[in-house]
Amino acid sequence: MKRFFSILLCLGLIISMTGCTGVKPTDAPDDDVYVIGFSQVGSESDWRVANTKSMTAAFEGDTEYELLMDNARQEQENQFTAVRRFILEGVDFIIIAPTVEEGWETILTEIKDADIPVMIMDRSVAVEDDSLYLTNIGSDFLHQGRLAVEWLEGEIPEDRDIKILHLQGTIGATAQIQRTKALEDAVRSHPNWEITSQLYGDFTEAKAYEVMTDYLASNRDIDVLYSENDNMTFGAMRALDEAGISYGNGGQVKIITFDATKEALQYCHDGRIDLCVECNPMFGPDVKTLIEKYRNGESIPKHVYVNESAYTTQSITQEFVDSREY
Ligand code: AHR
Repeated sequence: MKRFFSILLCLGLIISMTGCTGVKPTDAPDDDVYVIGFSQVGSESDWRVANTKSMTAAFEGDTEYELLMDNARQEQENQFTAVRRFILEGVDFIIIAPTVEEGWETILTEIKDADIPVMIMDRSVAVEDDSLYLTNIGSDFLHQGRLAVEWLEGEIPEDRDIKILHLQGTIGATAQIQRTKALEDAVRSHPNWEITSQLYGDFTEAKAYEVMTDYLASNRDIDVLYSENDNMTFGAMRALDEAGISYGNGGQVKIITFDATKEALQYCHDGRIDLCVECNPMFGPDVKTLIEKYRNGESIPKHVYVNESAYTTQSITQEFVDSREY
């Protein structure tokens, strides 16, 4: 029965163009299938695409599970629509990767009233009552930001004035809030560090290229680019190339980027990016383990952080780049 409704749900979501894809078991009896509704942020970055693949792969081929994924295209309203459909359908479990932190109380209360457990993944939600969700798995974005500023502290002599250009991701997303906080805290404690501008890149390559091109038309005095994800960095590198401004090892601009995707790691290895701070998207298997623990009645932590570190041109090897999954 559940599968019948989930097919209807998928059809509904496809018709409303919100991008539902289902990973379906082929021959399990319906009653044995544990149906999970997953509201994904979008497909704005290589990180996101890898995260979706990791989630899909974790459940694919497991006849016990059916994962219904909805792509919200970076719109919180689309997430509300998808979640309400999941509730109507009567899924067994809901996973939300929230676009932004604010505004989740009402929908989480609706899920609670429907008696459906909910996991928050990747980013976080800002709600007073944390009983509105079971657990939150994802990155420690503040730690990532601190890794970046600690590296910069080691690179810049205490008495040198530096101008930092800051490319920000989706405003209000945990990844943006915490990475920004780490930088702004550091600037407050270093009188010779200055953020010359904060440009909005929405975690996409196209937006970052556009805002960087505009900015560089009248500003060329940049010592450091602090870019809140790899795709924005790629857009920024293109704009810097076109403006004839050098960067990376021995260049004018030091580049700090977040995610550490294979492409960024290769640039780092080649000396075109100075620091890659890792943001690991491959936690689909951990999500599944947590759900299984919950189903077995085991207690699960309220917050689970994935392991991450940072890489420089000096520390990275070609073997490591080649072995990168995402
Ligand atoms: O929330 C994780 C961030 O979102 C990643 O850094 C970014 O690439 C993605 O779009």
